[in-house]
Amino acid sequence: MNVPDIIIAVDGYSATGKSTFAKLVAKEFAFLYLDSGAMYRGVTLYAMEKGFIGAEGSIDEDALLAAMPGLELHFEHSEEGTQLFTGPRNIEKEIRTMEVSGHVSPISAIPYVRAWVDERLHSFSEGGKVIMDGRDIGTTVFPNAELKIFMTAKPEVRAQRRYDELVAKGQVADLAEVARNLAERDYIDSHRETSPLRRAEDAYVMDNSDMTLHEETVWLRGLLQGKFGILE
Ligand code: CDP
Repeated sequence: MNVPDIIIAVDGYSATGKSTFAKLVAKEFAFLYLDSGAMYRGVTLYAMEKGFIGAEGSIDEDALLAAMPGLELHFEHSEEGTQLFTGPRNIEKEIRTMEVSGHVSPISAIPYVRAWVDERLHSFSEGGKVIMDGRDIGTTVFPNAELKIFMTAKPEVRAQRRYDELVAKGQVADLAEVARNLAERDYIDSHRETSPLRRAEDAYVMDNSDMTLHEETVWLRGLLQGKFGILE
């Protein structure tokens, strides 16, 4: 299928399978995949390691902002997929722990952090076909994206998927705790002042509660063919 150079923005609630879908699309249609959530997780890991997050979850914002110029994050794309690095250090695994998930939404609500991440997302995605997933890609990062998708799924389906994912990675997980974390992040992400999670008016909604990955790609093919007049 001959897809033109477009940006596909994929937004939606936590653990709706945005990155799984985006990775699949990237592979099938030769897009560059960028995971904006990984960047927020990278900033969060940095704040945790620097000791800017207190035991009760309070954030020393001034210290974080002062230290941000010392942070470098970038993606490396290989056979194993897209992975996040800080300098030579691969942090892909560490940014996916429940501890990082527990702090990432308050960190992402800080306007300076959002501007810092946005600037890098733009520089990573110059030209070509790009698919990026997150919370505000179609509304703030790329409001002119040629195709916008908003993903959603039933909360219990999302919690089970994320739980299975963590267990498959060898992490100790608790289903109720995972469900609580997803609900808490969705609340904070949707209610923050800067770039809250919401569906762009021109986004196509996909509820994948009962969809297989194959059905998701068939759905996208139909959309690409209809919207861009691509004939197979
Ligand atoms: O994979 P999952 O859906 O659980 O989350 P993620 O995409 O890794 O994003 C982690 C967190 O980063 C979210 O809960 C948001 O707080 C934040 N985020 C954001 O604020 N804006 C984005 N564009 C992407 C993520």
